[in-house]
Amino acid sequence: MRIAITGGAGFIGSNLAHALAARPEISHIRVVDDLSTGNRANLDGIAVEFSEGSILDPGLLDRVFRGVDTVVHLAALPSVPRSVRDPLASHRANATGTLQVLEAARRAGGPQVIAASSSSVYGLNPHLPKHEELRAVPRSPYAVSKLTAEAYLTAYHHCYGLPVLPFRFFNVYGPRQPAGHAYAAVVPTWISALLGGQPLVVHGDGNQSRDFTHVETVCQVLGAAAVGQVVHPDPVNLAFGTRTSLRALIAELESATGLRAAVRYTAARAGDVRNSQADNTRLRALFPEVTPMPLPDGLRLTVDWFKSVP
Ligand SMILES: NC(=O)c1ccc[n+]([C@@H]2O[C@H](COP(=O)([O-])OP(=O)(O)OC[C@H]3O[C@@H](n4cnc5c(N)ncnc54)[C@H](O)[C@@H]3O)[C@@H](O)[C@H]2O)c1
Repeated sequence: MRIAITGGAGFIGSNLAHALAARPEISHIRVVDDLSTGNRANLDGIAVEFSEGSILDPGLLDRVFRGVDTVVHLAALPSVPRSVRDPLASHRANATGTLQVLEAARRAGGPQVIAASSSSVYGLNPHLPKHEELRAVPRSPYAVSKLTAEAYLTAYHHCYGLPVLPFRFFNVYGPRQPAGHAYAAVVPTWISALLGGQPLVVHGDGNQSRDFTHVETVCQVLGAAAVGQVVHPDPVNLAFGTRTSLRALIAELESATGLRAAVRYTAARAGDVRNSQADNTRLRALFPEVTPMPLPDGLRLTVDWFKSVP
């Protein structure tokens, strides 16, 4: 089967491309990415047809989606703080971009469209764990753009019969997730700081919690969804119901690196949610065979990757 990945030069997209390249069912992988946050070198060593350009370009999408069985739509401007600084840019890439992807999928004859939404859509809703029927209360422009994107998938299924599968990713971490830029995620930022002998900066009191998922587990689910042509018009949480405070994450990172962390506490960030933990009943019903990688193992692999790159 033939697969197109939007945002395939990014962190999750490139891990997915490597995972799919190793699967016998997949004969051809196309990637479209404008390299705004991604890196072409992430795809080194595998056979992919790469097109540099934006998902906002319909002609380019028509070429990339021609004859594919599945589109895995990951292109977006991630990061809550980035969206707080520039909401229009987030909306264009994440909401309008998804609409362009769905229109191009429709023109291409209706391949399956799997897309990445985000746990951030639950926002201010305090209920834990988060199940998909809870009211979404987005508290950042990023969360609004993702809620819009997933709602478009559901609407395209109902209006045009497009086979869709919107996933809500929680905190994904692992190899190829970059540190050292203004909007970097917490795991790579802290591993990089620890290995570089720098203090770990905590926004808020460190008792906020997240449901961390290793990227290999996410790619297992995405691969199974594509190969099995799984369709579910309503969003599906993609996480495994763990709840790790940032303070506990520091202890895990100390054990994964064998280093002692110096910690500096600063003000909480606008738009950040307090606690995040998935109810994954829906995910487990659709993908009963997937076993998540435990956090200590995933962190050790991520630390090893950081040590291996120059
Ligand atoms: N990493 C996480 O924890 C997490 C959590 C929730 C949701 N997500 C979602 O998962 C997806 C992948 O995230 P990631 O962590 O790999 O981020 P990433 O920034 O590494 O990947 C996004 C990719 O999309 C590309 N891109 C951005 N705008 C584009 C455009 N207009 N046209 C073409 N390409 C464009 C970037 O260059 C990049 O390669 C995103 O949709 C993100 O919102 C990620």
